[in-house]
Amino acid sequence: MKLMQLEERAKRAKAVREERDLLHEMFESDNTGITYNTEDIAGIFRIASSRKARDELNKIEKSEDVTFGRAANNQFALTPDEVHWLCGHFKIPPYSALGKRAFVMNNINLKGGVGKSTSGCMIADGLTKSVDHISKQMRILIIDLDPQGSATKHFLGDFRSAALFQSAITLMASESTDLDLINELSIVKDTSNKNVHIIPCTTDDGFLSEQLSEVAEEQGIEVHEMLYERVIKPVEYQYDVIILDAGPHMDNVLRASIGASDGLLTPIPPKEFDFDSTLKFFERFPDIFTSLIERGYDIERLQFSKVFMNLWKENARSSVSRLYNARAMNELTEIFGESDLISEHLPEEEAYQRCADNQHTIFSMAQSTYGKELGDLIPFNRAKAQATKWLNAVWRTISLAHQKFDSNGGK
Ligand SMILES: Nc1ncnc2c1ncn2[C@@H]1O[C@H](COP(=O)(O)OP(=O)(O)O)[C@@H](O)[C@H]1O
Ligand SMILES: [Mg+2]
Repeated sequence: MKLMQLEERAKRAKAVREERDLLHEMFESDNTGITYNTEDIAGIFRIASSRKARDELNKIEKSEDVTFGRAANNQFALTPDEVHWLCGHFKIPPYSALGKRAFVMNNINLKGGVGKSTSGCMIADGLTKSVDHISKQMRILIIDLDPQGSATKHFLGDFRSAALFQSAITLMASESTDLDLINELSIVKDTSNKNVHIIPCTTDDGFLSEQLSEVAEEQGIEVHEMLYERVIKPVEYQYDVIILDAGPHMDNVLRASIGASDGLLTPIPPKEFDFDSTLKFFERFPDIFTSLIERGYDIERLQFSKVFMNLWKENARSSVSRLYNARAMNELTEIFGESDLISEHLPEEEAYQRCADNQHTIFSMAQSTYGKELGDLIPFNRAKAQATKWLNAVWRTISLAHQKFDSNGGK
């Protein structure tokens, strides 16, 4: 080879990448984000019909001297902010009025690529943007603990200044015991979703995990207490739900994430290999927890450890996939029973992937943008309908457990 060849190739790679960035920017400027039509408004505010919702909106525009967003065809198309304004108008209390500390949910599996990050981002967007939940005006914090940074990329874009970010892991590894460090370092970042904040994670953090034992010892706390004590506790009344997205490694970071969790949610794909690895993970649970308990961890803190089926192949054409599906389902019921198995699965849908490729989830993507630029609306709507059922099943689990927390502890 000649160096020149490599240089020429590098130039072409750069040109292609810049072209892609440009396309991506065009897409972003086109995507004005999700809006709500009169049918959605009727659903959100329990108004009997779309027509009544339209009449109501017209009335409010006159009486309150406001103008709601409209689509090109002049039909109502309200932004999330406008829906929140309406919540105030209709005096719907936000979920935060319950005054509970945040519920900490950990999307966990020692197998990578099973949908931990995808499902975490979907829960965050779904609970803040879907018709069934937007009126709760929930405040969600995602703590990205995986140096791969999938959740960070999803919510903050393909950031170039990643190295400048402080993460939850750097905070835990920091020698300072100043409890307000989380605010002083401003490690919590806003995202394009006003109701979702994130503590990002960057590639460099992978090396810090081992240091955590030393720092913990110096400070006289246990590794499994570090995430809760140093990162979560100072902000736990500022959020309703905190979602942890840890990487697939049994290391100190994962221990700290378990120590901080109120609930564990594990995605399981029916595909033989992923399924097998996940079951092995559950076989290790007694050991993992025994060693935590030996160091003072209180297992009563954990409200649930549930699983859901991800990447389920609907109408699987190949007989092998059908076999995986059926067997996996039977076996999951055998292991987890009805109570620890989330009743709805997430199917394998290209729409989820396409939304993810454009830094969206099915819950944040405007239907019109998807239809214009990304793909067919029939599979999009099918994917969204099933994601909604799944989200609601997940929410039932979280909210039931959250109900048991003391109220108004933050006051
Ligand atoms: N239900 C699904 N349908 C289609 N693609 C999915 C689904 N769940 C996850 N994916 C895709 O699989 C890949 C791995 O998912 P990810 O959430 O990053 O896994 P993990 O966080 O467990 O490593 C991503 O490209 C994601 O978009
Ligand atoms: Mg991930």
